Formats: sequence, C-alpha cells, structure tokens
Amino acid sequence: MSLQSSIVYTNGAFAPYESVKVGLLTHALQYGTGCFEGVRGYWNESQAELYLLDLKEHYDRLAASARILFMHLPHTTDELIEITTELVRRNAFRTNIYLRPFMFKCAEEIGVRLHDVPDQFALVAVPFGRYVNAEHGLRVCTSAWRRIDDATTPARAKVTGAYINSALAKSEALLSGFDEAIMLSADGHVSEGSAENIFVYRRGVLYTPDCSQNILEGVTRRTVIEIAQSLDIPVVERAIDRTELFIADEIFFTGTAIGIEPVASVDHRQIGNGAFSVTRKILAEYQNCVLGRNASFAHRITPVYGKGNE
Ligand SMILES: Cc1ncc(COP(=O)(O)O)c(C=O)c1O
Repeated sequence: MSLQSSIVYTNGAFAPYESVKVGLLTHALQYGTGCFEGVRGYWNESQAELYLLDLKEHYDRLAASARILFMHLPHTTDELIEITTELVRRNAFRTNIYLRPFMFKCAEEIGVRLHDVPDQFALVAVPFGRYVNAEHGLRVCTSAWRRIDDATTPARAKVTGAYINSALAKSEALLSGFDEAIMLSADGHVSEGSAENIFVYRRGVLYTPDCSQNILEGVTRRTVIEIAQSLDIPVVERAIDRTELFIADEIFFTGTAIGIEPVASVDHRQIGNGAFSVTRKILAEYQNCVLGRNASFAHRITPVYGKGNE
C-alpha cells in the first residue's frame, strides 16, 4: 500500500491520506506551532502479531506538549489508544511500523501567538525499518549547534518548530561525514542526540543526563533505565562533561526511531574496545520487551490483532 492510499485519522474520522488537505497559510506550517509523537509498532512474525509500544506514555507526553502550547487534545488517552489500534488494523500492516500522532494549529491566518488559535489532531502510520544502518556502531560528533534551552523553547515538549535545532545538528554531522550529532547544552554539558537520548557507561555505572539538561524526556530512556536496573547495572542521572564521552567504556543512543544503537566514536576518538557488551545486553532485553517476549513488560505493549502473548 502506498502512503497516498493509506488510511489516516483526523477531524474525528478515518480517511485516505490523499484526501486530507492542509492550506498554505496554516499556522503550524508558518510558525512551527505543532507538537507530535513518534510511536513504534514491532511485528512479531512467529506470533503473527503487531505490538504498539508504550502508547500510554506517548499520548501522555503529547498531552503535556499540547498543554504547553495552549492546545486541547480532542480525545482522552484511552480513546487515542483505541483510535490508534483501529487505524493500524484498517491499514492491515504486517511489518514494523512508525506512527506519527500530532497536534497542529490549523487556522489559516497571519499572526504569531499560541492562545486562541484553533488546533487539530491527526494520526499517520507508515511501514518503518531501521532508522540508521551502522553494524559497527555510529560515528558521532559533538555539534557546534547547542541544544535549545528550556528558557527559550520548551525542551521537554516535542514541538515541531523546535526540530530546526535537531535538523541543523544532524545535517552538520552528516555533511561532515558523521552518522549523528551530540548536542551540548548552552553551558557545555552533554544533552542528547538530534532525536535520541544518550547513555554513557564507565567503570560499571550507566550515566545519562538528568532531566534538567534540556533533554526530551524520552520514553525509551525510561525503559532502558528500568532494564539496566533489572540487570543490576547502577544508573546515575547527572550532568555529563564532553570529555567524559571520550573516556567512556561504552556509549549508546536511545529513541523510538533508533531503538538502542551503540556509538563507535565521538569526535574521532574510539569509544572503549568496540565490543559494546553492556549495550548489547540491554538491547537484547529491550528486543524481548518490544516483541512481547517479556511478561513483566506486557502492560507496555498493545497487541493490534488481538492474539496476545505467546
Ligand atoms: C530530541 C529528541 N530526544 C530524544 C528522543 C527520544 O525519545 P523517545 O525515546 O521518547 O523516542 C527523541 C525522539 O522522540 C527526540 O526527538
């Protein structure tokens, strides 16, 4: 099925993607006044089941972003979960997918502000494979672009306009021959990747920037902290200096799109011995969780076709 003929949801109804039109002066297009989520669906071939990951967490974060932008989600989280599973059923996906729920200011008018502008909810789903393809880990640079600061643009809200910050850093990295960028906060501490949170493992402890380092409060980040704790790996959330990256034993990114991906080098310095053994242990457990093979994670995944766990 092509994107054009796929089924989307907006204005309270399911409709073909190609039938939905957005005007040129749409507020969100002109001013970046939207917020969004990325949600993964993982296809388990042996169970013939598609599992949607952390719907509640994502819709709670969308509600938080919407609140910051003076928007009103037209549905409760439970309704959104029902709409989402129905949308995936209507598209009959039998592969890994990515869902993009979003809210946007839909007024077609000139005038920048947030309050008293009508908004709209929409949901689109597409087949989606690996976000990056780097078998031996990612080659990463620290970006010259600093991460947006919560005092200028809310970092913990997933605001469409704020992604110019990520796009600047990502293009700078790719055009310079790297796979991804790490952004530092305005005060020079490690914040996160262009669309990923970051973890640094050194001397038996897993470190990740705390929520005051202008990070997006990642859903995958939280899951990874729980997995690490279940594996008896101590986790510390604190400010991280740039040079701590260079002497780490392992570094990995986490995110809905990327999953868990090891970092091979930062600014041309190789990280650890390249074995990524702790990263791989956490990744193996993560894959069990998202594919419905870990009973204690069952409440975090929503089976679309109703067959449930093995
Ligand atoms: C800027 C940014 N940081 C971190 C993440 C990772 O968050 P999550 O694990 O919720 O996908 C994302 C992706 O959503 C992101 O766009």
